[in-house]
Amino acid sequence: MTAPTRSEFRIAPSILSADFARLGEEVKNVVAAGADWIHFDVMDNHYVPNLTFGPMVCQALKPYARTPEGVAVPIDVHLMIQPVDALAAAFAEAGADYISFHPDASTHVHRSIQAIRAAGCKPGLVFNPAEPLDVLDWVIDDIDLVLIMSVNPGFGGQGFIDSALRKIEDVRKRIAASGKDIRLEVDGGIKPDNIARVAAAGADTFVAGSAIFGKPDYRAVIDSMRVALAGR
Ligand code: DX5
Ligand code: ZN
Repeated sequence: MTAPTRSEFRIAPSILSADFARLGEEVKNVVAAGADWIHFDVMDNHYVPNLTFGPMVCQALKPYARTPEGVAVPIDVHLMIQPVDALAAAFAEAGADYISFHPDASTHVHRSIQAIRAAGCKPGLVFNPAEPLDVLDWVIDDIDLVLIMSVNPGFGGQGFIDSALRKIEDVRKRIAASGKDIRLEVDGGIKPDNIARVAAAGADTFVAGSAIFGKPDYRAVIDSMRVALAGR
């Protein structure tokens, strides 16, 4: 198993826990505080029992996803919607960099992946806590990201589900066997005190919503996550 190295780690704050009345400023501030990616949780009140924001909000936020030096920070769109394809295309238009969807929400997973790539974005697949990884047997060569849910999708602030660690180990082996450069992201319940454990299982990219936006000093939280990752 090839464990990720420190420089490969990415921290992706989820703006689901940001102040929705000040979203542009929140994105700008969390990027200035050291965020590597911006995680954008799209919920449709159908696939998940919650409703958030769509492509117009992504487009409006795109100019804010830049470091103070002007370097663009990737927008990591996590689609919790069904069906997938029409909105995925709209997010590609709206400036998304990564677009991930749940395979159980798409009738034709391979087609959805191809459509995301054809639109110029990096496709990812997301697995719920009780969802098997079997589909990866057939499409791992076609994707750039695997996102493992360590909570049930729909809400921020839930507790980390431990079985995600075994699943991350399994995905890490599959990525190593594929020989491809694929990000292994984890989403849900990530905090400075469990991030090292999740990295040890094989994750290299970490979504964190409430842990970061729930505290006044975003940089302090992101830095403490990096310290925990470095000491792993
Ligand atoms: C849940 C979302 C997560 C959420 C994570 O459906 O996919 O991205 O924002 O929130 P925390 O980090 O608070 O568990
Ligand atoms: Zn998410």
